Amino acid sequence: MGGLRMRVFLLFLIIGIFDFHVVCGYTRPPPRRTLFIPLADPDSDSPQQVHISQVGRDRMRISWITDGPTSARVDYGPSPAANAVSATGKTSSYRYLTYESGEIHDVVIGPLNPKTVYYYRLGGSPSSQTYSFQTPPSQFPIKFAVVGDLGQTEWTKSTLEHIGNSTYDMLLLPGDLSYADVIQDLWDSYGRLVEPLARQRPWMVTQGNHEVEKIPVLHSEPFTAYNARWRMPYEESASDSNLYYSFDVAGVHVIMLASYTDFDPDSSQYKWLQGDLKNINRVNTPWVFALIHAPWYNSNTAHQGEPESVSMKASMEDLLYQSRVDLVFAGHVHAYERFYINPKPEISMFREASFGHGILDVVNASHALWSWHRNDNDEPVVSDSVWFTSLSSNPSCKV
Ligand SMILES: [Fe+2]
Repeated sequence: MGGLRMRVFLLFLIIGIFDFHVVCGYTRPPPRRTLFIPLADPDSDSPQQVHISQVGRDRMRISWITDGPTSARVDYGPSPAANAVSATGKTSSYRYLTYESGEIHDVVIGPLNPKTVYYYRLGGSPSSQTYSFQTPPSQFPIKFAVVGDLGQTEWTKSTLEHIGNSTYDMLLLPGDLSYADVIQDLWDSYGRLVEPLARQRPWMVTQGNHEVEKIPVLHSEPFTAYNARWRMPYEESASDSNLYYSFDVAGVHVIMLASYTDFDPDSSQYKWLQGDLKNINRVNTPWVFALIHAPWYNSNTAHQGEPESVSMKASMEDLLYQSRVDLVFAGHVHAYERFYINPKPEISMFREASFGHGILDVVNASHALWSWHRNDNDEPVVSDSVWFTSLSSNPSCKV
């Protein structure tokens, strides 16, 4: 029992547009030009910024935006006609300073079969564009793409191309999405940039500091755009906030945590996490992953000693240890690093000042292959890979 048998590690998988710090011997690569993706047809009420996210075991939330009021209706089915079933959902919008969002539509569809391609159309018009997505598998193997601090630069563009070529089942994003930083049009641009991937596979995200967007006096509510645009399945995991939630996919329990809201032992998030960890059944989900934004371990000089790292670690790390969480992913630093807490005392196992993305191929209940794909001037290069054994498969590590 206790921490000695644990083998939690933490890694950073970051691409982003900002580069505040230069670090001797471990220097983050320079940012590239920020992209702005304009609307293809500014006079159209066509769906844009389409993305999907898993809800429960066999449903999918379809999210999209239109400039004007249109129906929150999805027609879908397993054939390209996309007309087997229809579902309706909700439409919302938000204001931020002088900005007024488009109509944000959210429709949950299902039940759906695992590892199956579905075709879908949005808005109820039979002449609207047909899209398709593939549901994740219900059993191993499952392949995750993992990328943090995505942003919208030329680095982002080529990294998205690399991810798109990886045949992944689901994308996990530990915070910092658009880097809109109060310029709300950049949220729309970001939605258009990621749509070609995010409408085909579920993108499961949590938020970082760039999502807070709180301005004293002028806009006191945090996470307004994030919560409106990237609604995640929090109610299904008994969470009271879109900022933290969990879900099961194949044999993996994934926990999304919030670095920029309360995490002390009296907080709702802490109590929710306790309950969520207690309910994990390692027979059903032999693997448990957690995602946070601000890293709990970090040997880069950038982002050292921030309260969201230090205090959240002090508050929550024991909970994750006690529950034998296998892997923790973090973002924020814009560089890659992989840690083991135990058994090796030199905790930084690999670090590289690069942009890129990770692929986690969970092949069965006991083994998963992690690989880091550095974005080497637009070429994907595998520079770190390692096999992991689940803690639930280790007889000396009771879970
Ligand atoms: Fe960040």
